[in-house]
Amino acid sequence: MANIFPRWTNLLPLKIAVCIGTTVAGIALAFSYYATPKTLRVGYQPSQPIPFSHKIHVDQLGLDCRYCHSFVDVAGHSNVPTGNTCWNCHQHVQRDSPKLEPLHRSMNDQHPHYDGKPIEWVRIHKSPDYVYFNHSAHVNRGISCQSCHGDVNQMEVVYQAESHSMGWCLDCHRAPEKHLRPLEEVFNFDYGDKDVARYVAEGSAVKTTEDLGKKLKEQFKVSPKTSCATCHH
Ligand code: HEC
Ligand code: HEC
Ligand code: HEC
Ligand code: HEC
Ligand code: HEC
Repeated sequence: MANIFPRWTNLLPLKIAVCIGTTVAGIALAFSYYATPKTLRVGYQPSQPIPFSHKIHVDQLGLDCRYCHSFVDVAGHSNVPTGNTCWNCHQHVQRDSPKLEPLHRSMNDQHPHYDGKPIEWVRIHKSPDYVYFNHSAHVNRGISCQSCHGDVNQMEVVYQAESHSMGWCLDCHRAPEKHLRPLEEVFNFDYGDKDVARYVAEGSAVKTTEDLGKKLKEQFKVSPKTSCATCHH
């Protein structure tokens, strides 16, 4: 596959590649499906400059994902918070924890090693540049962070839980009902069959999250596209 997109390419050759026609498309698709291991990046868990725990901050303290990832439902790209967000609390809470030394270097101008530089978090999830992805387009249509990132609320250290391969994107684009939720539940990591009754009339045949997903799909006409140009502009 390497020579389809040599290192020197920009997006133009990709557009050509995508338009070349059904034979190449068919081969490429078959190749992605059968030759790319689904588990390619699953489990990637780099260590971070500060041992930041989602379990403490989300599960125990009850912070919403958007408190820190504040662009995720309004923009294509989901931001990682700046030191300011942490410093709001940690100039008071656990101020002297040695784990927070890099935060002091970044934020505390009284600190002997202060340099004012942003904390260098190691990025975990990264699509190749030739893929177009958009967070808000998913989150605002009833797809939860949990479907694509796993149980982040329980993670002491974040790892990649899903492959994010092309086949993985397409599996959901073809059958989104397995994942669709009412918008109120997108940030609820305990969502399950027990919650369905809140959204349907008593005695309804809609009982599981997948039943409800089917209903939402029809009601809101959710139909993710599968044409190549959807994700490769
Ligand atoms: C208090 C702030 C805070 C809250 C609340 C928070 N996060 Fe994070 N998140 C971070 C920081 C800092 C990082 C980067 C360091 C790391 O990976 O642990 C991060 C990293 C991530 C990553 C990996 C990013 C990458 O590099 O690929 C994902 C996915 C993520 N968060 C999802 C969530 C979800 C889902 C929620 C809500 C359940 C949430 N976060 C709540 C601060 C937060
Ligand atoms: C809303 C307030 C709040 C925000 C925002 C916040 N934290 Fe915390 N953090 C806490 C509290 C409270 C604790 C202590 C929890 C406990 O002891 O059970 C804590 C604990 C920690 C610890 C463990 C400290 C130790 O010595 O055990 C680290 C590390 C940490 N936070 C890093 C961060 C980072 C990095 C950010 C920004 C991405 C951040 N926190 C944002 C409130 C916050
Ligand atoms: C449909 C799947 C999907 C959903 C839903 C989703 N993400 Fe992501 N997320 C991705 C993909 C794919 C990437 C890599 C994107 C890229 O490289 O541009 C990513 C990247 C990230 C990053 C890293 C961005 C960076 O630049 O470091 C964070 C943080 C993140 N997601 C948080 C969240 C949060 C919080 C939610 C829920 C509110 C969420 N995501 C919902 C698929 C998803
Ligand atoms: C868990 C289900 C799910 C996964 C996984 C998923 N998608 Fe989607 N995607 C959707 C849904 C639902 C929509 C919204 C369709 C609608 O609005 O009718 C959507 C819409 C889109 C759109 C159209 C956005 C716009 O701006 O109109 C793009 C592009 C896209 N997805 C790319 C991706 C890529 C790339 C991946 C893999 C990295 C991916 N998706 C993974 C469910 C998913
Ligand atoms: C729903 C989004 C989506 C659609 C639709 C899509 N792709 Fe992809 N494609 C991806 C993602 C994501 C990757 C990157 C996979 C990875 O990093 O493992 C990718 C990678 C590729 C690659 C690189 C080779 C490889 O196996 O990783 C080629 C070639 C490709 N796609 C061609 C196509 C063609 C041709 C079509 C139309 C038949 C298509 N794609 C439709 C999301 C999509």
